[in-house]
Amino acid sequence: MIQGKYHTVIDEYAYPRQALEDLYYSELEKCVVQYGQKMRWGPEKRQAWTPGINAVDPTVAGKEYLTDWPLLKEIWDKFDILDFHPNDMDMLVYDQEYEFPPHVDFKQNAVIMLPILPVDGAMPITYYHIPGIELEKYTKFRDLDKDKYREYVYEYSMEYPTLSNGWVIHGVDKLPPEQTRVFLRIKILKEKYTDVVTKLEKGAFIND
Ligand SMILES: [Fe+2]
Repeated sequence: MIQGKYHTVIDEYAYPRQALEDLYYSELEKCVVQYGQKMRWGPEKRQAWTPGINAVDPTVAGKEYLTDWPLLKEIWDKFDILDFHPNDMDMLVYDQEYEFPPHVDFKQNAVIMLPILPVDGAMPITYYHIPGIELEKYTKFRDLDKDKYREYVYEYSMEYPTLSNGWVIHGVDKLPPEQTRVFLRIKILKEKYTDVVTKLEKGAFIND
């Protein structure tokens, strides 16, 4: 593992990025739908129809979960995550010029990101820190002075998965017009970022 302040590169496992790209173009790209549709959210859920975030919907291909594709099952099996459900893995496709404003993922304690496209490196993630605030009570992330509160920028490894702490302010700047961003994402809902780091230290997180 290669530890940063809010992220950890899981260099115990080189993921099959090229095979994922091949599978994306051969079978998964045609299953891409708006993210809210994939989640079966109704119109009452405000975020449901935020344009720009899309996901692979396995039902378009007559499957139930991403893990119904052997390559994705193989990746899913690599991680020793408490109560890991196939639904906790998804493949996200961000539209060109999409931007993630700074935010905190309170429900998603941590995520593991496996970038697939673009091959030459996806738009990096930026972590922010505002001294002296209680994250749970702060609501003005979207108006954040990015230059003032930027702590560091991390360029995703395209070779190893990256574990990222969801309980930190983070965002992704606007994607360049030519960039389509495809990521395999694993949500960690029942364990904290630090729990996963501890497991990694013990060699108890990546299965052989
Ligand atoms: Fe996030």
